[in-house]
Amino acid sequence: MGKAAIDQTMDKLVSLCKRRGFVFQSSEIYGGLNSCWDFGPLGVELKRNIKDHWWQSMTHRRDDIDGIDAAILMHPRVWEASGHVAGFTDPLVDCKECKARFRMDQLEESDCGSPAYKGRKAVKCHAEGKFTEPRQFNLMFKTFMGPVEDDAAIVYMRPETAQGIYVNYLNVAGPMRRKLPFGIAQIGKAFRNEISPGNFIFRSREFEQMEMQYFVDPKEDQKWFEYWKELRHAWYLDLGIRKEKMRFQQHGPGELAHYAKDAYDIEYEFPFGWKEFEGIHNRTDFDLTRHKEYSGVDLSFFDEETKARFVPYIIETSAGADRSTLVCLVDGYREEEVKCEMRTVIRLDPRIAPFKVAIFPLVNREGMPEIAHNIEADLRKHFKVFYDDKGAVGRRYRRQDEIGTPFCVTVDSQTLADQTVTIRHRDSMEQERIGMGRLGEWVGERVVKICWMS
Ligand code: GAP
Repeated sequence: MGKAAIDQTMDKLVSLCKRRGFVFQSSEIYGGLNSCWDFGPLGVELKRNIKDHWWQSMTHRRDDIDGIDAAILMHPRVWEASGHVAGFTDPLVDCKECKARFRMDQLEESDCGSPAYKGRKAVKCHAEGKFTEPRQFNLMFKTFMGPVEDDAAIVYMRPETAQGIYVNYLNVAGPMRRKLPFGIAQIGKAFRNEISPGNFIFRSREFEQMEMQYFVDPKEDQKWFEYWKELRHAWYLDLGIRKEKMRFQQHGPGELAHYAKDAYDIEYEFPFGWKEFEGIHNRTDFDLTRHKEYSGVDLSFFDEETKARFVPYIIETSAGADRSTLVCLVDGYREEEVKCEMRTVIRLDPRIAPFKVAIFPLVNREGMPEIAHNIEADLRKHFKVFYDDKGAVGRRYRRQDEIGTPFCVTVDSQTLADQTVTIRHRDSMEQERIGMGRLGEWVGERVVKICWMS
């Protein structure tokens, strides 16, 4: 795909997200805060639905995973033990000419910072010797706890949610009477002072993760690693993400994180290239052993059956809530020609769509608004719905297509005669009539579809 096409797809999506209330630049009226984003009324619904669906799949529909919600700020020793203080760094280079900063390993994808060279890749400047020597830059945000701003008061904004799970794993295992294997899931904010954030919500400095840590017998690590790798891929397929747009990418020996024995990214083919949106990692006993060492607390697990005591291995599934949201938006985004007109549609799975149903009275008279409002009140007890009585029905359909609403219900003159309504499907644009009384059940079957994992 040429550069013009790349820019257009993302530009159109970013503009739609702003115009329709999905995502706004943070602090926009002050010129924006680079790399931070605010989720608007539709974006918050979409992201929350994705997080809820993940939470349901991980915790409610399985009997081996519990959830927690740990604090963002943790004891600073946690990050020494985890290796983040020493090793969570990226190589940073400065351009001596235009003063822009780049991640050394991302020069090929970064544009030169000088307006005079618009569109030129920074790798070219590097080849011409314009950069300083690389230095290691720690990605953790620091702040101070308490009134005195000295070194003893430094705390970090967590760069991953995982550590909150590790330090609590025995707190969970005890009350929940867990035996291996079992998992702990968490959704929450993480912060990284990224050198080159960008591509809309793909890489930001404040983002959300959906992480699950599965504690296993070290002898069974490979089996569970394979299991989670396949299951997480299947989860996205079930959400309707196109198979050909996803692939696994195994980390080579030079790319593995300091804690990992084996790791696969699930990548998506974004308009700006193949990029990771979830990682499945075999973290071995690295984290628990280090926490045991640094805290002095025995974090080994006693297996009642074999009477053996050992530090479990951890298989981690780590997804970005923002990146998954972007995957759903990009994958669903289509421009289609319908009867010589273009329509923009986002094909979101009904379970995650911001609005489940839009309700229209065909005209604002003959009792149609009353019936439509009754339907609205009835459906609103269970689903997020939208009422629209403005403009031609065709235009109302287009407005809903653009925000991914899967079903539109129209009350028309036939409704008055036989209590049926028209349901119009977003993707096929086909219409069918059903009795008003069955509407709630009909929608329910489609938006609370029995979860695939059960
Ligand atoms: N606990 C392991 C861990 O954090 P990671 O590969 O560094 O692993 C996992 O991050 C996921 O978190 C990524 O696949 C991505 O979806 C999300 N993520 C990481 N950095 C991000 C950023 N700067 N902006 C948005 N999402 C990010």
